[in-house]
Amino acid sequence: MSRPAQKWTRPCGAVRQIAKFGCSVPKVTRRGGGSALPGSGASSAISSRPPSRAPRACRSPSKMRLGIDDDHITMLEAGHIAQDAWVALHARTAAQRYSGEASWDAIASLKQALGFPVLGNGDIREAEDALHMMSSTGCDGVVIGRGRLARPCLFAVFAGRSDRQLPTQDEVATLMHRHATLLVEWWSEEKEGVTDFRKHVTWHLRASR
Ligand SMILES: Cc1cc2nc3c(=O)[nH]c(=O)nc-3n(C[C@H](O)[C@H](O)[C@H](O)COP(=O)(O)O)c2cc1C
Repeated sequence: MSRPAQKWTRPCGAVRQIAKFGCSVPKVTRRGGGSALPGSGASSAISSRPPSRAPRACRSPSKMRLGIDDDHITMLEAGHIAQDAWVALHARTAAQRYSGEASWDAIASLKQALGFPVLGNGDIREAEDALHMMSSTGCDGVVIGRGRLARPCLFAVFAGRSDRQLPTQDEVATLMHRHATLLVEWWSEEKEGVTDFRKHVTWHLRASR
């Protein structure tokens, strides 16, 4: 972990930082940041650093997209910036934001091109999708985005409890109450906590049977 990052994150108990090249927000990409970084001059400075000597498990992982748009695919450059740690690929371009299908073929290509672990990301909604992505692309693991929103039971399926696909409405109500309570505690103020909680309500309500 770099020294400036340590200064900010160690007091919070963090032991690892993730380098993110996945942000597609225009105000970030316009300045060459986020998913625009791998195609910018800054990336050659980063990737020309000598390889890290730290054990792989201690190196900083990276998360990135395919590239800026279909004409600017930068995942390989971003993979090299990752310096042999491991990378997570959100298999959409920044231009796609969250729409369209994720390209699992690109995950397979990146896995073939890099000699280190790749996590695939995009369009995993059920546990079976994760297994399918791993077998069809050869990736080493997965990152689940929208599919896991307000669905902790998805992880119960990975733990082998396949009877627990969707919670009942009562269970969702209990979970929502706990979530709201924890957010109010986190923000130390009811108004802030409840405002934050509002954006999770739809996800919770979609996730019941
Ligand atoms: C509400 C929300 C919050 C997210 N927050 C983060 C984040 O903090 N860091 C990150 O790297 N990606 C974040 N993502 C992106 C997801 O990790 C993932 O790359 C993206 O949703 C694509 O995967 P999906 O098709 O499974 O949703 C977020 C996505 C959503 C919908």
